[in-house]
Amino acid sequence: MKNPRTVLVTGGCGFIGANFIRLVARTFPHWRLINLDKLTYAGNLTNLKDMEEGETYRFIKGDICDAALVDEIFSGEVIDTVVHFAAESHVDRSITGPAEFVQTNIVGTFTLLESARHHWLEKKLVGGQPVFLHVSTDEVYGSLGETGLFRETTAYDPRSPYSASKASSDHLANAYFHTYGVPVMITNCSNNYGPYQFPEKLIPLIFHNCLEGRKLPVYGDGKQIRDWLYVGDHCQAIVEVLEKGSVGHCYNIGGNNEKENIEVVELICDILDEKLDLLPSGASRRSLITFVTDRLGHDRRYAIDSTKIKDTVGWQPKVTFEEGIRMTIDWYLDNREWVNRVIDGSYAEYYHNMYDNKKNIGQ
Ligand code: NAD
Ligand code: TYD
Repeated sequence: MKNPRTVLVTGGCGFIGANFIRLVARTFPHWRLINLDKLTYAGNLTNLKDMEEGETYRFIKGDICDAALVDEIFSGEVIDTVVHFAAESHVDRSITGPAEFVQTNIVGTFTLLESARHHWLEKKLVGGQPVFLHVSTDEVYGSLGETGLFRETTAYDPRSPYSASKASSDHLANAYFHTYGVPVMITNCSNNYGPYQFPEKLIPLIFHNCLEGRKLPVYGDGKQIRDWLYVGDHCQAIVEVLEKGSVGHCYNIGGNNEKENIEVVELICDILDEKLDLLPSGASRRSLITFVTDRLGHDRRYAIDSTKIKDTVGWQPKVTFEEGIRMTIDWYLDNREWVNRVIDGSYAEYYHNMYDNKKNIGQ
């Protein structure tokens, strides 16, 4: 049996990070997980409220851009694995406020890579075979036309401040592998959905607005396409890449679930109409759909070719979109207090401003 890993997980209180920590705690109970998270509006301790601190789990509130703190963690713990999720992740926010994206996504990734280089390669402070897994997005490849798929060889062409900052961090990670030999792997994944997703992203936002009887903002003509992947499948892919991937490689991860946004929104309405009473007016939730001004520079279509990870690592998605969306809706219905808790206080004000005023949809 391999020695248990000591993993520095960054951004473990966010959507994917929390799902990853839960998966690892279940399947590798002897691994030690050190969760470094700044707890921005997107990070919530309640996502991991049943994780107990001790031998196998430690939480540190802090910023990945804080070089002294990151160095202290690398010096105090014998880390052999970094799984780097921490990022500013919402495209709309990157359009209204790109500075945080440059700071966290680029400078933060640089800070972690520097510390890994210093401790692993110069000081040789490492337990087992080290690996730095940088979690990235398919958005670095830009936008597809009606045909074609993103492959690992597709040229980078990011178009939003978010994707440009993620592309920059991918380039830094690659550069640290080629220049210094830091054992880096990169995963570029398509749109995730599932439990614990912050209700600013399309699927939880539509769910939440449906329950509140609020209008459902669909950008532009709603025919933009995303390739949806259930978050549990993404987390499993990350585990498999850690165990079976090769350093210096990147792996595209996708769900084979291309859907137009409008299809996704209509499906959520239909499932909720089936599970709950119709609206007080007797109308379907589809009547709440409102087409609003398009996102600036909105990418038209993303779609992933996952052949490499399937052939070399043996991973493929298990959950179909139809299963995953029902599991997700059931989770949100069973955890309504979670949604209310994560959007209370100052975020509620932001939320109402953004969805009422910015998109001009009123109530
Ligand atoms: P998220 O926004 O839900 O969570 C991000 C987490 O990082 C939060 O807990 C936040 O508090 C933390 N964080 C932010 N800035 C930090 C900083 N400076 N220092 C420490 N912690 C900080 O994001 P997510 O959806 O879970 O995405 C995780 C990663 O996966 C990101 O790198 C994102 O680019 C990538 N990704 C996301 C998707 C998706 O569909 N959500 C798809 C592909 C790739
Ligand atoms: P989002 O969840 O923000 O993810 P990303 O921008 O990373 O793909 O958006 C998914 C798609 O849904 C995207 O094409 C934008 C669209 N969208 C809407 O139509 N309305 C909304 O209110 C939001 C948040 C997104």
